[in-house]
Amino acid sequence: MKLINRLTFLVLAFATATACSADQAAEAVENEFYEYKSGSRDGIGKFYMGREISHVMGHLGAGWLERPERERQERTDLLIERLAIDPDDNVADIGAGTGYFTFPIAARVPEGQVYAVDIQPEMLTLLGERQKALSVANVKAVLGSETSPNLPANTIDLTFIVDAYHEFSYPREMGVALVESLRPGGKLVLIEYRSEDPSVPIKTLHKMSEEQVRLEMQAIGLDWVTTEDYLPQQHVLIFEKPASNEKAN
Ligand SMILES: C[S@@+](CC[C@H](N)C(=O)[O-])C[C@H]1O[C@@H](n2cnc3c(N)ncnc32)[C@H](O)[C@@H]1O
Repeated sequence: MKLINRLTFLVLAFATATACSADQAAEAVENEFYEYKSGSRDGIGKFYMGREISHVMGHLGAGWLERPERERQERTDLLIERLAIDPDDNVADIGAGTGYFTFPIAARVPEGQVYAVDIQPEMLTLLGERQKALSVANVKAVLGSETSPNLPANTIDLTFIVDAYHEFSYPREMGVALVESLRPGGKLVLIEYRSEDPSVPIKTLHKMSEEQVRLEMQAIGLDWVTTEDYLPQQHVLIFEKPASNEKAN
């Protein structure tokens, strides 16, 4: 009996030591990219490349995404119209929310597929209800994690992220995983409210400057293609995955 107790103790001690060192390793990796300090009310107190990450917009705010005046305020119609996509493209709508953009994009890729990725199952439920009502076949809802969109590697022609990137709690890990899922030469289109413009009526941490976005995308190995400012409130930044993706630092 004594021998069994001793063995049990040794097994538990080993398991605890292994768990601690795994935790420490995770923390060490995290601290390489992130700083933690007291932040603002709208932020999570975690900073990436000098930027404080904002809280995630909860699913109870879904109505705001679907507000009738959104098209006029943000010219979302123009954004969809000007997206350079082919009918057979595979598109990833990251942080898809209720699917406000997912379904108009799906209509533009009748021979392709739209992966609607979100970390909130409640958002994906709303999106699924809409998919059923509209009888759309080429949309696949994907539950992502904070660090990965859970998409297959080298399959996406266009990654589309509207008003979500600033909420990613692990932007570096998400960014690396997004690049992995893009095919070489594939594009990433990032839309964020312009922080350079104080007249844009959005909380500071929910806006981003062009300079900051370019810095963060460069860090994960994407090439900047262009920045278009034809929308009333948001930047449209376009990046490309290089043929050989060895540039992440
Ligand atoms: C402000 S909403 C924008 C929704 C949609 N793109 C739109 O413009 O209507 C941001 C969405 O991003 C999602 N999100 C936050 N972090 C995420 C992550 N790491 N991966 C995927 N989705 C994420 C949130 O759950 C939320 O649904």
